[in-house]
Parts: sequence; C-alpha cells; structure tokens
Amino acid sequence: MKLYIDSANVEKISRLNDYFPVAGVTTNPTILVNEKRPYLEVLKDIRTTIGNEKELFIQAIGDTAEEIVEESRFIIKQIPGKVIVKIPATEEGIKAIKILSAENIPTLVTTVYTAFQALIAAMAGAKYVAPYVNRIDNLAGNGVNVVTEISKLFKEYQLDCEILAASFKNLQQVYEVCLAGTDTVTVAPDIIEKMIAFPATETDVGVFKEQWRSVYGEDCTSLIDS
Ligand code: E4P
Repeated sequence: MKLYIDSANVEKISRLNDYFPVAGVTTNPTILVNEKRPYLEVLKDIRTTIGNEKELFIQAIGDTAEEIVEESRFIIKQIPGKVIVKIPATEEGIKAIKILSAENIPTLVTTVYTAFQALIAAMAGAKYVAPYVNRIDNLAGNGVNVVTEISKLFKEYQLDCEILAASFKNLQQVYEVCLAGTDTVTVAPDIIEKMIAFPATETDVGVFKEQWRSVYGEDCTSLIDS
C-alpha cells in the first residue's frame, strides 16, 4: 500500500511529508493552477521538499499522442528524480502510453471511469491507473466497484500495473477502496489528516499523562525525568 498527497501546495506537502508515510505527490492541471505561480517553479519546489526518491506525478495536457510524448520527454528533463507522467484515458493517450513505455518513461493513465479503460491502459504499458472514485459516484456510478473490478482484472490477467485510486471527497471512500484491493491511493491533505485524528485517542493520552503526574509530580512530562 502506498499513500500519495494529492496537492501542489508546498507548505501542506512539507508538513504531511514529515508526519505521514507518503510515497510521493500527485498533481493535475487544476491542482497546479491553484498555486497561482509558474508551474515549473511549483514542481521544482515540491521536488526539493520530498527529495528525489519519492514519486512526483505530472499531467500532460497535449491533445495528440505526439504532443503528449513531446511534453513527457520535456518534463522528465526539467524535473529531477522519479517522475511519472499522467496521461488521460483517451485514444491519443493510449497511443502515447505505448510509445513512452517503449522508451521506459513511466506513465499513469488518469481520468479513468471504467474498468475497461484501465485494462486497455495496463495492456498498453501504463505503470499505474487512476480510477476517479468520487467523480464516478457523482455520475451515479460506483467508484469502489470500479476499483474492485480493475483489481480482479489485473489479477486475472497478471498485469503488472498498479491501481492508484484518486478523486475522494471523504475518508469512507478511501477506506472502501483500500478494502476493495487498491494498491495505492492519492488523497487531498485535509482528508489525509483525518486518517489519524480521533478525539478518543487525544482523551486517552490526556488521562495517561494526568495519572502519571499524580504519582511522579506535576513537572514530570517524560519517562526520563520520572
Ligand atoms: C489525481 O491527481 C486526480 O487528478 C485527483 O484526485 C482528482 O480529484 P478531484 O476529482 O477531487 O478533482
């Protein structure tokens, strides 16, 4: 299981990268333009923050396979470390994935709404597929079921492609895709924080401290000075 931060906000990425076991960062055009500064500057800052070993996902915006391939080669040169190019699940996108996988440039097929899109992308050589869980739900589909189906197909056909479930509105959706067999998830910062925060945990920790101090004295805040 791998957890990615779905954000381009360097401050939030830095904080989460310190506290959580994150494997990298995913971006898309919307996420990058929200930062309101040159996108290459943002991506380079993210790279400096997470280091060269963690994966950084960057989406191509070209229409044709040729444009997507050119953009991919460009971005790989611009950003050091492990970069994965995100490519939409279109006919041109699939053509680009075939070309890029022959060049050993790792790709993720994005905007995935059906298990068939994921299957074709994996057969074309994509390293990851990103089913859009909440957006599927919004179309009266079932995002978790799509993840279950993709997982079943990849196992059945022994495809070397990971499911990176994306587009979440709440923690329940993330939890359900984990149970459905996703390999990885990418989650926005506010939802990642909810993965660990639980009021009863805070209360229990407070009670333990109080009990400790009642025996060892009010000044004792650690095992070292008790
Ligand atoms: C991954 O990077 C996807 O682009 C992202 O999770 C989409 O999320 P949204 O549906 O909340 O925009």
